[in-house]
This record gives sequence, structure tokens and C-alpha cells, in this order.
Amino acid sequence: MSTAAHPRTRVDEIAAGIYRLNTPVEIGGPVGHFNFNQYLVADDAPLLFHTGPRRLFPSVREALARVIPVERLRYVAFSHTEADECGALNDWLAAAPRAEPVCGQVAAIVSIGDLADRPPRPLADGESLTLGTRSVRWYDTPHVPHGWDAGLMLETTTATLLCGDLFTQGGKGDVPLTQGDILGPSEAFRAPLDYFAHAPHTAQVLERLAQARPATLACMHGSAWQGDGAALLRALALRLAATAPEAHHAPQPKAGTSGTAAPAPVAGALTGAAAA
Ligand SMILES: [Fe+2]
Ligand SMILES: [Fe+2]
Repeated sequence: MSTAAHPRTRVDEIAAGIYRLNTPVEIGGPVGHFNFNQYLVADDAPLLFHTGPRRLFPSVREALARVIPVERLRYVAFSHTEADECGALNDWLAAAPRAEPVCGQVAAIVSIGDLADRPPRPLADGESLTLGTRSVRWYDTPHVPHGWDAGLMLETTTATLLCGDLFTQGGKGDVPLTQGDILGPSEAFRAPLDYFAHAPHTAQVLERLAQARPATLACMHGSAWQGDGAALLRALALRLAATAPEAHHAPQPKAGTSGTAAPAPVAGALTGAAAA
């Protein structure tokens, strides 16, 4: 990932009081352009969902400061322990003296209690966190799309699901919010680089999220999406189920050949970029 050019992070309000901070990056190789989004829920106790990678922190911090003073940030939340989800956590904690890390209970015990410079505030499955006039609800989503410690958040006033790596779209992510198709582009991205764990209960996890009836899906990579979130989550579950037999039963292709395994150069490029 090239950060030498100091990419400009753009800010767009994608639901009332919810701001998408988008930074395009150039990864090179077969991936080309990629992008990282964080979402700010502006309220009395502002919450940032995802920190961005450590190397993008100066740009993302400058972007957040266009919406609120950085030192007002109260919560820094994230889905699971990866560099783009929480790599800049300690940078945010240093910039915002009252900010607390917020994550699931597994992440707190396994990683964040040690990695973070201040103790995390773990949320139990179904637990809500009040931010002032609005609140967020935590959903444990173990191994969906990946990570034992994974979870997602719903902002309940606008029914915005902070859906993390679900529906990851490649490219620069320069359309902030769309009502068009994101399942197709995200499945096209997943085809050569399947970032799902394909755990046995994936469909049940997605159905539970569907039952929350989100009106906006705040994707971490690519455009946010507005529409019938329940229908789109169920469509994703069907696509995953359709491809699962290949993942579980077909002979595994060697790296660099077509199939469900990531070609080695792609996997290497994205590991270096801390993607998805
Ligand atoms: Fe991830
Ligand atoms: Fe990600």
C-alpha cells in the first residue's frame, strides 16, 4: 500500500449524523485500487467504527476533524482484530484522551486488553451503548466474515448496520452511498480472494442481522448502500451457501491456479495492505 502520496480522505454523511471517511489506496498487482472506510456516529459521545490502518491515521484524523474536534471522540469501536479494523487504535486513544476502545468480549480478552493503551469496554452480544440521543447495539458474529472475535454494530435510530467487511467492494470507493447493486461487485471481489471463513453457522448469523432490518449498510470497503438490508443480507447468505460446497468438498487448487484459494501474489499484496 502506497501512503507516500498522503491520500486525501473524503467525508460524506451517508445517514443522518453518520459520516463515512473514505481513503483510496493503490495496492498494485491484480488488486489495483482499494479503499478503507471508517464511520463516525456523531452524538454527545461520538463513536468511530474502525480506526483505519496505522499508516493512514494522519489522513483519517484530519478528515474526522472536519466533522468534530478529535479530542471529543468518546468511543473507538471495531469489528475484529486486524490492522484496518484497529491498527490505529492507540493513535486515536492518544489523540482523544477520553476515548475508550469498544469491541466484543472475545476481542477484549484475547487481544485488546493487551494491545490497547487503555482498557477496552467490551460489549456482550445484544448489548447497547448509549451515545446521547442515539445508541448502537452489538452483535457477536464469530467467524463472519472472519475472525473468532468478530462482531458488528447497528445504529438504531437510522437502522444503519456498520457491516464491516461484509459486501467488500474493490476500487477506490468513490461513490459514498448507492442504491445500486453491491452484491455483484462484492462477489466479484470475493471470487479470487475469498475472505469468508465459511463457518457452519454463517447463514444463521446473517439471518439474525437481517432480522434487525437495516435500512443502510455501512460497508468498510466500497460504497455504503441504502435499501432493503434484510433482503440483501439474505441474498448474500444464498450466494455463500451456493459456493460453500466448492470450499468444503472440491479438491483444493494449488496457489496460483483458479478456484477458491487466493492466488499467492494477491494474498501477499493484501496481507501487506492489511485489507479486509
Ligand atoms: Fe477483516
Ligand atoms: Fe476490513
